[in-house]
Amino acid sequence: MTMTDKVDFSGVAWGSVEWTNLCTLYLRAYESGSPAPILGDTAAAEAVDRIDYDWARMRRAMRPGSNQYLVTMRAKQLDDWSAGFLRRHPDATVLHLGCGMDTRALRLAPPKTVQWFDVDQPDVIALRRRLYEDRDGYRMIGSTVTDEAWLDQLPTDRPTLMVAEGLVMYLTEPQVRALLRGITDRFGSGELAFDTVSPMGPRLSKIFTKGIIKWGIRDARELERWNPRLRLLEQSFVGALCERIPSAPVRLLWRVVNATPMRNYDVLNRFAF
Ligand SMILES: C[S@@+](CC[C@H](N)C(=O)[O-])C[C@H]1O[C@@H](n2cnc3c(N)ncnc32)[C@H](O)[C@@H]1O
Repeated sequence: MTMTDKVDFSGVAWGSVEWTNLCTLYLRAYESGSPAPILGDTAAAEAVDRIDYDWARMRRAMRPGSNQYLVTMRAKQLDDWSAGFLRRHPDATVLHLGCGMDTRALRLAPPKTVQWFDVDQPDVIALRRRLYEDRDGYRMIGSTVTDEAWLDQLPTDRPTLMVAEGLVMYLTEPQVRALLRGITDRFGSGELAFDTVSPMGPRLSKIFTKGIIKWGIRDARELERWNPRLRLLEQSFVGALCERIPSAPVRLLWRVVNATPMRNYDVLNRFAF
């Protein structure tokens, strides 16, 4: 999957979708340099080393020191759920949706018997292909997840894990319903691991971010009523791993968040079907 030559990403426009993927990549890479990382994404650090980009400007914008933990705690919980599924189902299909530049497939290093698909919009996958290449057991698919044709390319005879970090809030509610229905109708059994934001997300986004966040839900348990095949297994809020943050002031900040309804802003959900 990996290549080693330098790649020039200087054309990635500040504020674009591709740029947001570089932001989260940078934060994961930054955190891997901590003496006691929560995620320890050394593959992200290698990617940042390979990519020619104005990382100094990125550093000023992202202000790592406190901001990396939202991203790394969220990724860690989804990684742990995914790793658990792969231990139980080493012959699984993994649908990693809205993958951006995330190195989840490298972090989890699944066995060769797993079929892993990284899926994102065509422009994002075109950029990703400059960093990584397909190999046995690993393929990238450039497609919107709202067009069900991408599902036709996948094996349906294996236990299937969908993992989607920071994706479904960018879809409309009918699109989320259709996506989940498309997966549970097509694959025999599996799990879905993804984060959802509260209804505050789209409301705030209308004011601050031109409405790019389209969907929020108060409690994702409601999805069981949308789709009777879904069974909620567990939920966790993003800050649940905050006791592992090495910096005392940042840890305290997260404790405060966790003690208030703000903890329910971004919730991680694991469903079986
Ligand atoms: C906030 S980024 C998160 C990326 C990655 N999961 C991470 O944590 O770094 C959201 C990603 O979802 C992708 N995305 C949004 N809408 C999508 C759609 N309809 N189909 C496929 N990908 C989509 C974007 O292109 C972007 O890469």
